[in-house]
Amino acid sequence: MKFTDSPVIELPVHNAILSIQQDNGSFHVGTSVWPCSLVLVKFAERWAPLPGPNLRPTTTPNPYAQLLDFGSKRGVELGAGCGAAGMGFYLLGLTDVILTDISPVMPALKRNLKNNKSVLAKTLKHSVLYWNNADQIKSLKPPYDFVLATDVVYIEESVGPLISAMEALVSDDGVILLGYQLRSPEAHKLFWEMSEKVFEIEKVPHEDLHPEYAYEEADVYIFRKKKKEEEKMEDIP
Ligand SMILES: C[S@@+](CC[C@H](N)C(=O)[O-])C[C@H]1O[C@@H](n2cnc3c(N)ncnc32)[C@H](O)[C@@H]1O
Repeated sequence: MKFTDSPVIELPVHNAILSIQQDNGSFHVGTSVWPCSLVLVKFAERWAPLPGPNLRPTTTPNPYAQLLDFGSKRGVELGAGCGAAGMGFYLLGLTDVILTDISPVMPALKRNLKNNKSVLAKTLKHSVLYWNNADQIKSLKPPYDFVLATDVVYIEESVGPLISAMEALVSDDGVILLGYQLRSPEAHKLFWEMSEKVFEIEKVPHEDLHPEYAYEEADVYIFRKKKKEEEKMEDIP
């Protein structure tokens, strides 16, 4: 997979092409397109059932067909930055999606949503969300079937609020789809320690990623809320 620091990143999703403007010279990490976002979208594009009549040959087993069935589901993206993941998932059928980030990133996010309006056929919903702000989380009216997040683990102090926000936003039977790359050893250690306590974690094998949008350091994870003891008992026939 080739990455570029060019001012515009083009991301093909099925028959559409998103053009995402980035500003790598800015002081804010949210104004760049981070490659994990492209890896996550292209993984989902590879496996998501096509909207409308399913033309995928039924002989090909699809282990992600159920997971990535977006019909009438709700999604929220955390730390959306320039919006690549949220916009990509919208094109894949997650049409009720809201992209969130902190205030300083909103101009870059809004510009990209506006620039892609013709491809998306609308301006996608967006909202300011600081992960430690319980009122903002509440105003998003959780729970969500999908929480999307890419390259959001890089500050140790933000790990706790990030995991709490994920937990508060995802429904009991929903999923968190995470595009991940190690950015800070301290944040990494704390994130996985805390996540394992709250979520069942599944790592997507690298061979299931999109072959042209994969690289060694990038991973896709699927998180589900851990079931409480009494719920586990109910599952036993
Ligand atoms: C490395 S950027 C990734 C941006 C985008 N997801 C991507 O993959 O291109 C991390 C994003 O997380 C956001 N972020 C960091 N800490 C945050 C916090 N405490 N609350 C909300 N967003 C936060 C940043 O503003 C930034 O947009």
